[in-house]
Amino acid sequence: MTRRVCVFSLVIAMLLVTVPYSAPGSGHGEKLEKKSAVMLVAFGTSVPEALTAFDQIEKQVREAFPNEEVRWAFTSGIIRAKLREQGRELDPPAVALAKLLEAGYTHIAVASFHTLPGEEFHDLYQDVRAFGLMSEAHGRKILVSRPLLSSRENMEAVTKALLKGVPKDRKPEDAIVLMGHGSEHHPGDAVYAAMNFYSMNVDPNLFVGTVEGNPTLDDIAPKLKDNGVKKVYLMPLMAVAGDHARNDMCGDESDSWKSILKQQGFQVECVLKGTAENSEIVDIWLDNLRKIHAHFE
Ligand code: CO
Repeated sequence: MTRRVCVFSLVIAMLLVTVPYSAPGSGHGEKLEKKSAVMLVAFGTSVPEALTAFDQIEKQVREAFPNEEVRWAFTSGIIRAKLREQGRELDPPAVALAKLLEAGYTHIAVASFHTLPGEEFHDLYQDVRAFGLMSEAHGRKILVSRPLLSSRENMEAVTKALLKGVPKDRKPEDAIVLMGHGSEHHPGDAVYAAMNFYSMNVDPNLFVGTVEGNPTLDDIAPKLKDNGVKKVYLMPLMAVAGDHARNDMCGDESDSWKSILKQQGFQVECVLKGTAENSEIVDIWLDNLRKIHAHFE
């Protein structure tokens, strides 16, 4: 389904993009005047608190790139439909790229606000590559930045930033269990295990699990017992504290992580704050964006 939507938007985009090939002032072989833009890409959200977090990201991006056009694109069609009902119109990445090219932008830095290089990131990467190939004439450049957890340095920095969001009364013997989404894209999913490994150097009582991938809560619960943990702080390792965080992690149903851990005798406290709401984590995303933007200078 995602794939079909993706191809569909690419077709629309290709139709739209015919204009820049004969953009005004671009004679044969002439270079276009440099005009740069930053395109922010996320799965999207319709949760009001999370939209506020996205506004904060945008503010940080505008401060970092004061002379650039900044636009959003949301990859989720369901979210875009929900927002359309509320009067907010958002484009999928391919359409947003086509519009930027049509408006004469020659250098586009696409910022992936994904957590890891899973399916969604790869879809975005393919769109950007396709547009890059279609439009590289006249010196245009379109590049995409790496997602949040793209290196050991990223993972350690994210762990440190997340720890600052934990309530101050947390004792070192209390555990923090992060709920990642999990990915059907297996190499992407393996990033959670890597994060688990590197975060241990930062805090031996911090664990990473996932709701739809690996590791699972079953992998983590025994480790909490081995460490003699009595209290657990649950936090999302997702951009927004949406449905998964509110229900699968901290809902009152018997199969939520909160309920399962309580049944196993742990005291549980929930921290419902997404990574996009943590400005230090947004800075890590921005560092990844700066790395590709450096290719435009
Ligand atoms: Co999900």
